[in-house]
Amino acid sequence: MSKTQRLDKILANLGFGSRKDIRSICKQGLVTIDNKVVKSSSIHVDPYQSEIKVGEDLIEYREFVYLMMNKPPDVISATEDSRHETVIDLIDTSFRVFDVFPVGRLDKDTEGLLLLTNDGQLAHKLLSPKKHVPKTYYAKVEGKVTDKDIKAFKAGVTLEDGYKTLPSELEIIKSADVSEIALTIYEGKFHQVKRMFEAVDKKVIYLKRLTMGTLSLDKDLELGEYRELTEDELESLTN
Ligand code: URA
Repeated sequence: MSKTQRLDKILANLGFGSRKDIRSICKQGLVTIDNKVVKSSSIHVDPYQSEIKVGEDLIEYREFVYLMMNKPPDVISATEDSRHETVIDLIDTSFRVFDVFPVGRLDKDTEGLLLLTNDGQLAHKLLSPKKHVPKTYYAKVEGKVTDKDIKAFKAGVTLEDGYKTLPSELEIIKSADVSEIALTIYEGKFHQVKRMFEAVDKKVIYLKRLTMGTLSLDKDLELGEYRELTEDELESLTN
């Protein structure tokens, strides 16, 4: 079944400006449908069937967008910031028009897996404290991480504000002056991993998120790169 809509309505919904703006973009010959320039913004088109381009940007018309990013350091995981670059600044306009936002926060200096979407329901599910969605981090830690820390984290440690963390799983990759570890936590308090190590008198000097729920960071993504979730990834995440 064909679901045609006015071109100006489709593009306005995607954030390309008012209908007047879109009329002007069309008049300038910037919009193509199936590779043919379209000068009238009032024509009807099925956005699910036709290839609509604004300039070089291919418009993919769908309700939700899901992106996996390898967040680089020095970039803020927020939609806006007056002083710093945000993860949204790293995303192409063709995705930005969907109003994606980061699902949860990573500190400015933390790298790794960040999900961006405009699916509020999924975001809510992943962030709900009641759901205990597991998140695994890799960290370099100043100080020798030992079996004692594994036991302490398993029992739950008390942070400096008096909060006792849920049981978490600590794996020691290397125990040395600078140790390497993987830690899986089931909650997401502010600066949680750093504060957990502070609670056992150690300092996180490098932090990278590897997983969130069923989602694992794609090793092929360089820092700052992102890609859409595959159908399998999305299905596992939503189930
Ligand atoms: N824990 C932290 O301390 N920082 C992060 O960015 C994520 C988890």
